[in-house]
Amino acid sequence: EKYAIIMAGGAGTRLWPLSKEKKPKQFIAIDGNKPLLVQTIERIQELVPRENCFVITNIQYHTLTKEMLKNLIPDTNIILEPLSKNTAACITFATLSLAKRFKHGLVCFIPADSYVQDKEDYLSSIKQSYQAAEKSKKLIIIGVTPTYPATGFGYIQVNQEEYNHSSTANVVQFKEKPSFDKAKEYIESKNYLWNSGMVVGSFQAFLGEIQQFIPEHFKKLTEALKHEHEQDFHSILEKNYEELLEISFDYGVLEKNKNLLAIKGSFNWYDIGSLDSLSLIIDENEDGNSVFGKHLGIDTTNSIIYSLENLVTTIGISDMIIVNIGNLIVICPKDRAQDVKTLVSILKKNG
Ligand code: GDD
Ligand code: MG
Repeated sequence: EKYAIIMAGGAGTRLWPLSKEKKPKQFIAIDGNKPLLVQTIERIQELVPRENCFVITNIQYHTLTKEMLKNLIPDTNIILEPLSKNTAACITFATLSLAKRFKHGLVCFIPADSYVQDKEDYLSSIKQSYQAAEKSKKLIIIGVTPTYPATGFGYIQVNQEEYNHSSTANVVQFKEKPSFDKAKEYIESKNYLWNSGMVVGSFQAFLGEIQQFIPEHFKKLTEALKHEHEQDFHSILEKNYEELLEISFDYGVLEKNKNLLAIKGSFNWYDIGSLDSLSLIIDENEDGNSVFGKHLGIDTTNSIIYSLENLVTTIGISDMIIVNIGNLIVICPKDRAQDVKTLVSILKKNG
């Protein structure tokens, strides 16, 4: 049996002020289309039956998630985490919960913040991954061809020649979020894929790797789930979550694992991670500007302007980002978009 679990509990701070802690990016219709979470579920439901599609998110997003997905998945398929401890905890808890409910199965974890074109290719990669996972008993990660030295992604080193004979290749090395210099090296070597964030495997395979590389996660969450049908389950779960190391599955398991396979996807894929990536989803006009909303510019080129309510006017600027949401304005050069995260943490500190 095939299952899909969408991970939708992140805060998406680098996309502030579009993405806010109360309503992160996966829940908003960034480009006027449906929210990424809804797009993700609708896409995967062409491959996985609706009762086998799950969402795992933080309890603070319960109402939001339930409302948004009420016609797409049963309410009982929303798995709630008491605290945000990143994806190692998220994947461990979701796998343990499902394995308890269904015993055996193949599961695909999917991030809720990906923007995908070429749905057919995307689904065919996932289908192949389920097959490879069943056959090999290993974890399969789905990679895509990288286009620039991004520092916010995981890189999968593979032996490219293997793809000549098979749709899967052994992973030589997995490196999460490398430095810019390393990323450049990887891109030039042509032996690396970007990690799309999708991982596929049997419950058994996931639990085996989790037990080996993040044993505390396995122990504490298995222990908590023993109390699943008791009244104080939530407080036990919260207490055990509190004690978990906050780490992503990429750092915690994938980087250490020497037993992974990678499928190379040929679909167009973006992580709408920071404000500069808005240019990937908002078409450029003849001046190279990606404008969503109202803008009047003279000699303005290669910029991103996002303002639905107010008219933004600019003269003689290039490579800038201007975002206006409500009474908030953010202005920064495109190549400083990653620093929005710092800004948010300062604002948070100052209340
Ligand atoms: N339920 C839950 N709980 N979901 C979470 C949590 C959590 O604690 N933390 C993050 N998520 C969700 C996010 O909402 C997102 O959909 C997904 O898990 C991935 O988390 P991100 O925080 O967006 O990770 P990233 O973008 O920095 O890096 C990951 O994705 C890249 C591709 O987009 C890594 O897997 C990289 O290797 C990968 O290239
Ligand atoms: Mg992301």
